[in-house]
Amino acid sequence: MTGRKKTGILISGRGSNMQALIRAAQDPHYPAEIAVVISNRPNAQGLDFAKAQGIRTEVIDHKAYGSREDFDRALDSALRRHHVEIIACAGFMRVMTKTLVEAWRDRMINIHPSLLPAYKGLHSHERALADGATRHGATVHFVRHDVDSGPIIAQARVPVLKSDTPETLAQRVLDAEHKIYPKALALVASGALRVEGEEVVATAPGVTLPVVIPVLP
Ligand code: GAR
Repeated sequence: MTGRKKTGILISGRGSNMQALIRAAQDPHYPAEIAVVISNRPNAQGLDFAKAQGIRTEVIDHKAYGSREDFDRALDSALRRHHVEIIACAGFMRVMTKTLVEAWRDRMINIHPSLLPAYKGLHSHERALADGATRHGATVHFVRHDVDSGPIIAQARVPVLKSDTPETLAQRVLDAEHKIYPKALALVASGALRVEGEEVVATAPGVTLPVVIPVLP
């Protein structure tokens, strides 16, 4: 396929969502190609998988920068050096400056392990269990400056079982994340949607947004 959108994946650790995106992009008909994987942690596990798949990787260690602004500038120039058109944050655990977020407005997406706007921030699984929630899940959204907020592209809903621990629930959500993230990136990369105001709307026929995938027990 010509005109596949060059995508930069940002990680901080394990990189299982990154793996799902890399695998999806191995299909030549997938509308995005992975131009680079960038980690802010030198020992992020995900880097090894990316390298083994022949994908270019970079480490931009946030500890080497005196300020958030300096780190974000280095990140921005690396992304531009790799001609990145879309950024996919995949477990990238850094708060970004408004300057960076605005520079990539509607071209940067993120996955979060909850049905946003519920449970922004850390420990979403523990908090869902503590609330006695019966439904939980994951969300892919365009990135805005407020953490874990922005126009929603796709959500995966999973049931919360009475027997769940934070670990079993996290695993069910993670499996669902691996299904929706490649779908959401494909929608963005193929131009099947656009952001109007703070809503995602379909520009291609037959696409209903946000994509909601219920995952049954
Ligand atoms: C995923 O569950 C992702 O949704 C979450 O971090 C995990 C990373 O796992 N992201 C956030 O919490 C962002 N606010 P992975 O490295 O195996 O993809």
